[in-house]
Amino acid sequence: MSAILPPSERLWWKHPLDRLEAVWIVIAFIWCMVMFFMMVFWHVYGKQNLATETYKTTPDKFTAATQAMVDKYTVRTETDQNVPVVRPPEGSDIYMIGRLWNWWPILELEKNKSYKLHLTSMDYNHGFSLQPTNINIQVVPGYEHVIKVTPNESGTFSIICNEFCGINHHTMVGRMYVK
Ligand code: CUA
Repeated sequence: MSAILPPSERLWWKHPLDRLEAVWIVIAFIWCMVMFFMMVFWHVYGKQNLATETYKTTPDKFTAATQAMVDKYTVRTETDQNVPVVRPPEGSDIYMIGRLWNWWPILELEKNKSYKLHLTSMDYNHGFSLQPTNINIQVVPGYEHVIKVTPNESGTFSIICNEFCGINHHTMVGRMYVK
């Protein structure tokens, strides 16, 4: 039989299974199973995937919650754009907005204290990338991502955007302090 010509017997699925073919099907199936269970395994043991909760939200709702936090807990402003530095109490819900082209506001957290971080985007897809710890979270408009954070290192952290979001993507930066 040639691969160019049509098969002489058209009902190919009625042919007996060749041993070699069976071997390949079994190998492919086992490999599928390995890859499938690796997803579960890696989620638990890989320490790379953050367990986030995601809810639907709107820019208005999220802005209101963020503004309420900023009004209550701002301790000073920084940079020539007067970005508020917010120092929320331990255990509280803290908010950060991603938009063209900044992360707002600046959060000041305490080491070894837990917070519930809420993230959303006001416009397009952005990527929350905390440096230098390399924590990455996709930030999608219309959705609120909630992550439990417990900073275990003090210092100044940068937040950069790692999802291309337009002409000033490279200037989309933010800051987080851990005291
Ligand atoms: Cu936001 Cu790139």
